[in-house]
Amino acid sequence: MSTPVFLLFGATGDLARRMLWPSLFHLYCDGLLPAGLRLIGSSRSALENAAFRETLRSNIGKYSNQPELDVAALARFLETIEYVAVDVGEAAEFQRLADLINSYPAPELLCYVSTSPSLYKTVARNLHAVGLARSNTRLMLEKPIGHDLASSQDILNAVGALFAEDQVFRVDHYLGKETVQNLLALRFGNSLFEPIWNAQCIDHVQITIAETVGVEGRWSYYDDAGALRDMVQNHILQTLALVAMEPPASLDAAAVRNEKVKVMQSLRPLTAHSVQQHVVAAQYVAGISGESRVPGYLQEEGAVSGSRTETYVAIQAHIDNWRWKGVPFFLRTGKRLETRYSEIMVQFREVPHNIFEGAQGALSPNRLVIRLQPQETITLELMSKRPGLNQVQLQPVALNLSLTEAFQRDRRRIAYERLLLDALHGNGTLFVRRDELEAAWAWIDGIHAAWQQVGMTPKTYPSGTPGPVAADRMMEQAGTRWHG
Ligand code: BG6
Repeated sequence: MSTPVFLLFGATGDLARRMLWPSLFHLYCDGLLPAGLRLIGSSRSALENAAFRETLRSNIGKYSNQPELDVAALARFLETIEYVAVDVGEAAEFQRLADLINSYPAPELLCYVSTSPSLYKTVARNLHAVGLARSNTRLMLEKPIGHDLASSQDILNAVGALFAEDQVFRVDHYLGKETVQNLLALRFGNSLFEPIWNAQCIDHVQITIAETVGVEGRWSYYDDAGALRDMVQNHILQTLALVAMEPPASLDAAAVRNEKVKVMQSLRPLTAHSVQQHVVAAQYVAGISGESRVPGYLQEEGAVSGSRTETYVAIQAHIDNWRWKGVPFFLRTGKRLETRYSEIMVQFREVPHNIFEGAQGALSPNRLVIRLQPQETITLELMSKRPGLNQVQLQPVALNLSLTEAFQRDRRRIAYERLLLDALHGNGTLFVRRDELEAAWAWIDGIHAAWQQVGMTPKTYPSGTPGPVAADRMMEQAGTRWHG
């Protein structure tokens, strides 16, 4: 019998504190962790087991979304955790980990690397050096993997030389979100949508991830990334792939990822010409967010003056394949916007002939709106006659499905709970395969190259507003407007 072992590098970091440990604790409470699982936390800090467990106790208390914290279960959970201080840059220090792990009978290791991505290669190499890169070892790697295609391939090659593709689980936490997975159910569990899910019936699609937060103390990381690398390269393109892919043969990891990668590979590259019409980049300046006055991007702590990094980006993308010929996909994301929400809006074509000419109220096209957060709702906007004896008056009404209400009794899970559980069971469906990542980077690199050619300077938008006017203008030129 083998012993499952979970090893977390970066065990005292922000992601671990806020998401990973609380997720593991929830899985523990529900009896979902594999029997006999050993948990090891590791970071550079010199901490005793007891001190590490104490910090976990207070962090889990703070970040767990359980209605009531099960204090007794938390005490038992903490007992199962060991802490080993390791400087991942020091190969010799990995021996301590190897000694502990090898003291368990037939260990089967899942190693979550939540460190700076610049250390991924080193971690892989050092695991290998102490004999921990076995055929039954799995690695979970957080985004961003690289900064562009070349740097990403550098990491992928180094890790790939020591671990096979099915041993590497690349995390995009959007894929762990219930509503993102629900896209598969909506599209392929209903016969209603698939026949109309194409260029004949769909006019365009909008995908929005709007945030109210600023750079949250991560100025130097963010400045290097910008909205394009931080959000579009991963979360938005992954969501787009699920919206646009062909029906997979099954829910199997290979089947789903084969279809997703085709979407990424069919994205039309942007050129120096098209980037000026089809991409808007902008940076937030000071403004009012909620009730408070907030600084502009260039006044944030750690900011370097003159940065031209975009904190907002809107793109008119095209997928060059049979299904989506001529259908624009409008993608946008930004920080310090007016409201926090993520949604997918599918706008259907207008009716071929309007028999209501002259009736009051214009005929609007049908829209399917899938809100991913903060509330989980699916709305279908349909035209309806307003009750009354007067002249026909039309109005769009919403057929509304609140998932939060429909599934009231089901607890909302942290996205990482799903991902951790799947990786523990070796199921890669909700992780990003190497070719998907490469295709996504290639497309993003194309936009950066085009920006460079045209000397892109971001527009500005005041914090707390819906974004730059140039993005509205881009929509007007495309004959439409933003939803929401
Ligand atoms: C992360 C980005 O990947 O996703 C952050 O690095 C962003 O900049 C975050 O704030 C958004 O995630 P969520 O789940 O809050 O929408």
